[in-house]
Amino acid sequence: MKKEAAKIRIEKLKDEINYHRYNYHVLDRETIAPAALDSLKNELFSLENEYPDLITSDSPTQRVAGKPLSKFVKTKHSRPMISLFDAFSESDMRAWQERNENYLKQTWNQEYYCELKLDGLAISLHYESGQLQIAATRGDGVTGENVTANVKTIQSIPLVLRRPTTAELKAAEFSARETKIIFDLLDNGVIEARGEAIMTKKVLRDLNKKYESLGKPLLANARNGVAGSIRQLDSKITAERHLDFYAYDLLLGNYERGEVVATKSQLDSLLRLLGLKVLADNNICKNLEAVFTFFNGVGERREKLAFDIDGIVVKANNLKMWPTLGVVGKAPRYMMAYKFPAEQATTKVNDIVWQVGRTGALTPTAILEPVAVGGATISRSTLHNFDEIQRLDLRLGDTVVIERSGDVIPKVISVLKNLRTGKEKKITPPAACPMCGGQVEQVDDEVAYRCLNKKCFAVSLRQIEHFVSRGAADFDGLGPKLIEQFMAAGLIKDAADIYAIDETKKSDLLSLERFAEKKAENVIAIINAKRELDLARFIYSLGIRHVGEETARTLAVMIAENLHPEKKQAVALSSLISTFQSKSRDDLANMEDIGPVVAESIYSFWHDEKNLELLKKFERNGVKIIIEAFGKNKSVQTKLAGKIFVLTGSLLGLTRDAAKDKIRALGGKTTESVTKNTDYVVAGENSGSKYDKAKELGVTILNEEEFLKIIE
Ligand code: IVH
Repeated sequence: MKKEAAKIRIEKLKDEINYHRYNYHVLDRETIAPAALDSLKNELFSLENEYPDLITSDSPTQRVAGKPLSKFVKTKHSRPMISLFDAFSESDMRAWQERNENYLKQTWNQEYYCELKLDGLAISLHYESGQLQIAATRGDGVTGENVTANVKTIQSIPLVLRRPTTAELKAAEFSARETKIIFDLLDNGVIEARGEAIMTKKVLRDLNKKYESLGKPLLANARNGVAGSIRQLDSKITAERHLDFYAYDLLLGNYERGEVVATKSQLDSLLRLLGLKVLADNNICKNLEAVFTFFNGVGERREKLAFDIDGIVVKANNLKMWPTLGVVGKAPRYMMAYKFPAEQATTKVNDIVWQVGRTGALTPTAILEPVAVGGATISRSTLHNFDEIQRLDLRLGDTVVIERSGDVIPKVISVLKNLRTGKEKKITPPAACPMCGGQVEQVDDEVAYRCLNKKCFAVSLRQIEHFVSRGAADFDGLGPKLIEQFMAAGLIKDAADIYAIDETKKSDLLSLERFAEKKAENVIAIINAKRELDLARFIYSLGIRHVGEETARTLAVMIAENLHPEKKQAVALSSLISTFQSKSRDDLANMEDIGPVVAESIYSFWHDEKNLELLKKFERNGVKIIIEAFGKNKSVQTKLAGKIFVLTGSLLGLTRDAAKDKIRALGGKTTESVTKNTDYVVAGENSGSKYDKAKELGVTILNEEEFLKIIE
């Protein structure tokens, strides 16, 4: 980006981030998800990196966010509640360890202590002589808000600290001196426990169910739920929210932690002995490799946990290291937040495409500037309906926040209108159906716009299903369910669109439900394997009315006679079209086995503009139509010349397609139904009504062995 443009973008980003920071940290209103805000901050950070002389002291990158709210009484923390540095990859974590090694001038050979990073609200609990006096929020880190009345409603928080027995402290490896200090502080000193107030997923679900039935606005997520509950002026409301609290830190009077407690793991034991709730998942990890294993394991269990987490916190287990390493800027060197990839991000909307569903409803999909979200690159996002576009006031060119959770298709959450340049374009519903060109209307009091052609989706679906079927293009593994899923997601509108699905579209596949890396790769491989199609199969797969496999073959021979290929070669689509178009209805009707009705159907197919467009799309999307060397084939077609075969039941030694090919190669033909003109019925295992019909008409019936002899 040029400097002038960067300057304008930086100013806009700063205002935007500041606006959300104020809402989030001061008013407790989440106007943007933290991960999306991170995304804006990252953009600002890299622009400032590129042009360091554009950095100003008021930039959000230059300070720690947050001012206390005035509606609660302010309270100063005994020691600042600092923040954490974030790491997003193993290499970030290695770089952190390396920085510490450089700082200490020695190799790191110490244990880490890994904890879950709870996504709630940080609270400090100030106990004097073991009695809870003040509970405070973090605020700006130096001064927080006194929320004691509300916090007292959390059942898992002790109002009086539990007094451990000497034996319990001994078992937890506290020395006599340390035990005495702990008892003195409990009797006559100050102990401060810090931790996270949370709302479990179940409580959130139940509350939202209740709010829904009462017609009240729903809570967006557990973090919002807990922050809103703690910031209630009426503590009765907080009590109804059933919050929970997990402790992760302990301040012992004026002592440094390391003077009384040896390790973070031992500190957790003390927290528990004092009656506080501590996460059972926390664990010692010998080195970074063990930390990575812990992180991956937690990632796998994340969905099943009772509460939301956004990563893990990795701490030096040896508490003596904490003051040694100290704090730099806003956060300590001795711990690191190792976060899961962001599930939200910001990106630009480049286009809107409309897809037609089973019921004819038109659904808009936003085509996005590709962006990494939660480990996948996202380039499309569902918008549900036109109302959603209006509600969001979405325009082409807008910067939007998108969210991806689990396997679900990403959603546009909000539009960052302050980032508009004035060049954004309004979005209108399409005038005609993008699938069939039919009329589009918004039906009375319905949200959706619909294609009025009742058969629109079903007809297209059937056509594509026919194209991929066994006798046609034969996409083994691309069944009707997948086809319907691709259509519903707007990935394909016709058979030719299938060939546009290649490596570059992998992220689109990954954004579909039940699609993981392997399945996406598999689908791409299936499609790539069918980029060359035999001419007869191609003609059959087009689904021209009355043109079955045999007629398609007759037409392929006609093309071959015209083109006289010397060897196996690709036929240019233009010569295919011009050959078909050079034939009159009569020419076609004079061909073997083609009557006037079939001729009319073939003729009109090759003169229809829409069909010609589709054919060109096949070529554009990289389909090669192959024709066999003609002269050679013709000379062998004698042994079964003119004989008509019907295959029924399953053959053990060869596939039905191979059997048909063999019959044709010897000059014979296959048809689907048994008539008096049928010469042979080949009856395999489990043959049914065709066998009975053959008996009834006195047609020769061959078993597999007899058939194999004939075609030998
Ligand atoms: S230790 C220096 N441990 O994460 C700050 N924090 O992003 C000491 N958090 O404000 C924090 N789980 O509210 C620590 N196991 C854990 C945590 C945790 C969640 C929160 C905490 C902090 C925020 C920083």
